[in-house]
Amino acid sequence: MRFYHAVVGALLGALCQSSLAVSTDGLQDLVKRRLPDHVDSFAFSLNASFGTQDGDYIRKNDNFEVSSAPNGTILIHGNSLSALATGLRRYLTEIAHVDIYWFVGSLLDKAPNPLPKLDTPLRGSSIVPWRYHLNTVTFGYTAAFWTWEDWELELDWAAIHGINLALAWVGYEHTLREAFKGVGLTDDLILPFFSGPAFQPWNRFGNIQGSWGGSDLPLDWINKQFELQKKIVARMVELGITPVLPAFPGFVPEGISQVLPEANVTTGATWGGFPNNYTQVNFLDPFDPLFSELQKGVINEQINAFGNVTNIYTLDQYNEILPASGDTGYLHNVSYNTWQGLKAADPSAIWLMQGWLFLTNDFWTDSRISAYLGGVEDNNDMLILDLFSETRPYWQQTKSYYGKPWIWCQMNDFGGSMSLYGQVMNITINATLAVAQSESLVGFGSSMESEQGNEIKWDLLFDQAWSADPIDPVEYFSNWTYSRYTWGSYGDIPQELFTAWEILAKTAYNNTNSSTGVTPKAILELAPSIKGLTDLAGFYPNPTTVNYDPAEIVNVWNLMVKGANGNTWLWEHPSFQYDIIDVTRQVLANAFIDYYNNLVSSYTAGSHEISEKGENILDLLTDLDTVLSKNKAFSLKDRISSARSWAEDVDKDFYEYNIRNQVTLWGPDGEISDYASKSWAGLVGSYYHSRWSIFIEYLAKTDFAQYNDTTLSSQLRVFENQWQTETSLKASTSEANSTLESILHQLKKSWPSIFESS
Ligand SMILES: *[C@@H]1O[C@H](CO)[C@@H](O)[C@H](O)[C@H]1NC(C)=O
Ligand SMILES: *[C@@H]1O[C@H](CO)[C@@H](O)[C@H](O)[C@H]1NC(C)=O
Ligand SMILES: *[C@@H]1O[C@H](CO)[C@@H](O)[C@H](O)[C@H]1NC(C)=O
Ligand SMILES: *[C@@H]1O[C@H](CO)[C@@H](O)[C@H](O)[C@H]1NC(C)=O
Ligand SMILES: *[C@@H]1O[C@H](CO)[C@@H](O)[C@H](O)[C@H]1NC(C)=O
Ligand SMILES: *[C@@H]1O[C@H](CO)[C@@H](O)[C@H](O)[C@H]1NC(C)=O
Ligand SMILES: *[C@@H]1O[C@H](CO)[C@@H](O)[C@H](O)[C@H]1NC(C)=O
Ligand SMILES: *[C@@H]1O[C@H](CO)[C@@H](O)[C@H](O)[C@H]1NC(C)=O
Ligand SMILES: *[C@@H]1O[C@H](CO)[C@@H](O)[C@H](O)[C@H]1NC(C)=O
Ligand SMILES: *[C@@H]1O[C@H](CO)[C@@H](O)[C@H](O)[C@H]1NC(C)=O
Ligand SMILES: *[C@@H]1O[C@H](CO)[C@@H](O)[C@H](O)[C@H]1NC(C)=O
Ligand SMILES: *[C@@H]1O[C@H](CO)[C@@H](O)[C@H](O)[C@H]1NC(C)=O
Repeated sequence: MRFYHAVVGALLGALCQSSLAVSTDGLQDLVKRRLPDHVDSFAFSLNASFGTQDGDYIRKNDNFEVSSAPNGTILIHGNSLSALATGLRRYLTEIAHVDIYWFVGSLLDKAPNPLPKLDTPLRGSSIVPWRYHLNTVTFGYTAAFWTWEDWELELDWAAIHGINLALAWVGYEHTLREAFKGVGLTDDLILPFFSGPAFQPWNRFGNIQGSWGGSDLPLDWINKQFELQKKIVARMVELGITPVLPAFPGFVPEGISQVLPEANVTTGATWGGFPNNYTQVNFLDPFDPLFSELQKGVINEQINAFGNVTNIYTLDQYNEILPASGDTGYLHNVSYNTWQGLKAADPSAIWLMQGWLFLTNDFWTDSRISAYLGGVEDNNDMLILDLFSETRPYWQQTKSYYGKPWIWCQMNDFGGSMSLYGQVMNITINATLAVAQSESLVGFGSSMESEQGNEIKWDLLFDQAWSADPIDPVEYFSNWTYSRYTWGSYGDIPQELFTAWEILAKTAYNNTNSSTGVTPKAILELAPSIKGLTDLAGFYPNPTTVNYDPAEIVNVWNLMVKGANGNTWLWEHPSFQYDIIDVTRQVLANAFIDYYNNLVSSYTAGSHEISEKGENILDLLTDLDTVLSKNKAFSLKDRISSARSWAEDVDKDFYEYNIRNQVTLWGPDGEISDYASKSWAGLVGSYYHSRWSIFIEYLAKTDFAQYNDTTLSSQLRVFENQWQTETSLKASTSEANSTLESILHQLKKSWPSIFESS
């Protein structure tokens, strides 16, 4: 197995360097934050050779062991901080039955006191050296307005899930601005180049430039984000997570030639149907010495601010945009020069790149992929994210990226679509098969566009990283259910919840419809029309198929409600509250399709009862909005107030515009409208409800023979545009005062045909 060491030698160097130089204080602090009653209950022991006695092969692994000392202390031994953090979670989930969850938050403080003792130690060895987290666009769809408290939770979540490599994009605009100033650009050229807070990822990718909605990116934003980034990077390091910092990919402001007329700049490609002035981002030729100078500026600025904390840099030049030339010599030279520039700035640099570009355009033939990757002559200097491995693995087509180390990533979610969805076999069986089949596979990772629901799929993948055999999904879901709902001394978890999650494991999370390989969205979130909404397959626009018998989810709903009726403490349980709302959302989204089909078939048959049928649809949306309003994870209002809290003054409205525009029109004029739609309270009640009521009015007064989608769309657009700049949320329902429990009981009474179990 020595060959393995040669392939990933440099990466291992990076791993050992970053994780062993520091103490275990960061983990003790995590315990203080999340388990304040147990600050002295855990002892971490870091030993670089723990569990590594078998030589090189084993050395690529992280190893831990958790045991009980005679005095009751839980002892965690491991060969890296990440191994220790994983050991901590293994104990917490398997023995204490508590965990940290997206949206629900940390439930670790609900661990029993005193902590249970271990009779036999728990042991684990990772099957891959890296566990990677985040996608460049997650910083827009999920984290754009996150506070430090949000990041603290995310990083504690990441650390205990064994993640030891994560993107760290926050505050990049500060770094880039400093680098641009270093070569003579001024703010009047730099600031108009940046995109608004909710759209920065695509500016960083060179897809778009500039901001819409009334303001340039405020300097105050740039500075505050950079301060936040300092905390994020420091926390990552103390938790054993190597930060992946941004490098300079080559995208420059339009005005650069005014200051540097010699700069060799090419006009970039268009993207996403945006007007030319918002796209066609200028690309500085990597041959140009200015490229290296800017690269040094970016890297040095970050080393000065954060210290020498990483040598892994994220850099994407052609994400969904095509190179200026398809000449293989040109492509080879672009990456060769980019690589040389990076090495000049940091001699130990490793270039991390998404492999997404290769599967999104036929431009990328084998010879072009090989030319572009081949420009980086030392394989160890690159690390590729196979971004969509669970559905469109690309490593096989590219001979494992021609030998470059790569990471198997689960993407699964485009733009934050919310349906219950997953393919458990692909992330257990296929991921472990890939480890056996590809010598240069060095990690598992999450590359979701947005952290939305369906968290169990990522838990499963990160746990699979510590199991050589495919995990049994049904058993896994059962264990997960146990930790998910344990709640101090309240009582046993009712069997109904285990049954409910078992059904989910076998239906929504075991998608066998190969035409839909990504999370579908609810049609109620799409611009109304009498055609083109249901059963959309493929990837873009997002699919709308329901890949299981909808009656199964109704059964899940009834089981969960029944379980909680016999155990009323569940209604107060944060995980249960989140899950029952999520399942209700899915039941109503599925039922909406029937009501919609029924309306459309009456209409096309010439019925005059449109208003009455339409009333049903609108009532359904109102009731959905009411249910969603019971949890801030499903609230637009909550996102808006996070966005507004980043500003002191007029920028508040600009930030609110950013969040509204992202989840609706996505662009100044609806360029990728509804791509990032969400079933959120406030959005359903004020935006989707209004669109459907415009639609129903239109049908009521227009004979089928006269129906015209263009006319309808332009009526909708008037409303959609006006909604963008509103600053108070006019939901059709005010926030309900009733309890979730009584709202759901009322809901079942109001819609008996929807909630009837089969
Ligand atoms: C570290 O672990 C190795 C291998 O298990 C062991 O030989 C060594 O004594 C340990 N070192 C310390 C300081 O505990
Ligand atoms: C309990 O025992 C462990 C291991 O022997 C030791 O590290 C720890 O300090 C002890 N804790 C107390 C409170 O005595
Ligand atoms: C782009 O052009 C549109 C008009 O087509 C204009 O409204 C907008 O301000 C321009 N934006 C930028 C960034 O130049
Ligand atoms: C600029 O780059 C293009 C494309 O690589 C190249 O053909 C051209 O010669 C370069 N021009 C200068 C002035 O370096
Ligand atoms: C690539 O760079 C080499 C070395 O500078 C040069 O000789 C060659 O012409 C370049 N190829 C293209 C297609 O630009
Ligand atoms: C960072 O530290 C490592 C090892 O400690 C060293 O090899 C590397 O050159 C340093 N990088 C920079 C940019 O100083
Ligand atoms: C992935 O798993 C599916 C079955 O779940 C199988 O059909 C397919 O061939 C597997 N792909 C790879 C690359 O192993
Ligand atoms: C489920 O939990 C038990 C211990 O409670 C453990 O032994 C088993 O390996 C777990 N199974 C899975 C699939 O996680
Ligand atoms: C998922 O579906 C496949 C194909 O129908 C089946 O073989 C497999 O057992 C199912 N897995 C689960 C967990 O239900
Ligand atoms: C599972 O993975 C295979 C490729 O390995 C793919 O063909 C299939 O569509 C995937 N299944 C689903 C439901 O995504
Ligand atoms: C639909 O209406 C638009 C104007 O709103 C018109 O240009 C178009 O011709 C109409 N289409 C049909 C099929 O009547
Ligand atoms: C909820 O309670 C508040 C204050 O008690 C009241 O102002 C509001 O009208 C109530 N909302 C509904 C929908 O009943």
